[in-house]
Amino acid sequence: MELHIRPETPDDHAAIYDLTKRAFAPMPYAGGDEQDLINQLRDAGALTISLVAELDGRIVGHVAFSPAFAEDGAEGWYALGPVSAEPELKHQGIGSTVIKAGLAMLRERDAAGCVLVGNLAYYSRFGFQPFPELCPKGEPAEYFQILPLRSAEPNMVVAFHPLFHGETE
Ligand SMILES: CC(C)(COP(=O)(O)OP(=O)(O)OC[C@H]1O[C@@H](n2cnc3c(N)ncnc32)[C@H](O)[C@@H]1OP(=O)(O)O)[C@@H](O)C(=O)NCCC(=O)NCCS
Repeated sequence: MELHIRPETPDDHAAIYDLTKRAFAPMPYAGGDEQDLINQLRDAGALTISLVAELDGRIVGHVAFSPAFAEDGAEGWYALGPVSAEPELKHQGIGSTVIKAGLAMLRERDAAGCVLVGNLAYYSRFGFQPFPELCPKGEPAEYFQILPLRSAEPNMVVAFHPLFHGETE
């Protein structure tokens, strides 16, 4: 599959919204507002990395990264998500390809690390590890994971952008 990974442009906003909505719709854990969260993060200037995967000119994958907030004020933390792959093209590496490209960009920025809430088996392949004891309030501890990029062992709570909890800044 010849995927072209690139940062979003304004022309992609509608396609990202539509893809995210369709990808999450059947998921039992979906909040139903993942597509709106991307727009809200963008409007708040908090969509730090937004990559699309294009296949024959069509957007079939997307990943978002936003700033995250370490409790000691350390800079350089990010949160991964939402991430979506075209439902009819699942299990063909689209999700992995956009996630790896985004994580490579975080490494280029010398990021401290990345947090997410998601399936343990899926994200372990990218180096994420479960840290239920460091889960921010309001998130499901059993799905909370961290990819430390600078130091070996994270030792503090890193919170998601308030928009993940439906709060404005
Ligand atoms: C999560 C999501 C983005 C993953 O996207 P994807 O493109 O299906 O993911 P990948 O193809 O990279 O990996 C999925 C599986 O396909 C396998 N795979 C990857 N490339 C493959 C290939 N070329 N051939 C066959 N299988 C392949 C992977 O090993 C993985 O297998 P496993 O998880 O069963 O061990 C996608 O399922 C999705 O959009 N889900 C709905 C939204 C969602 O839940 N987002 C994440 C919330 S935490």
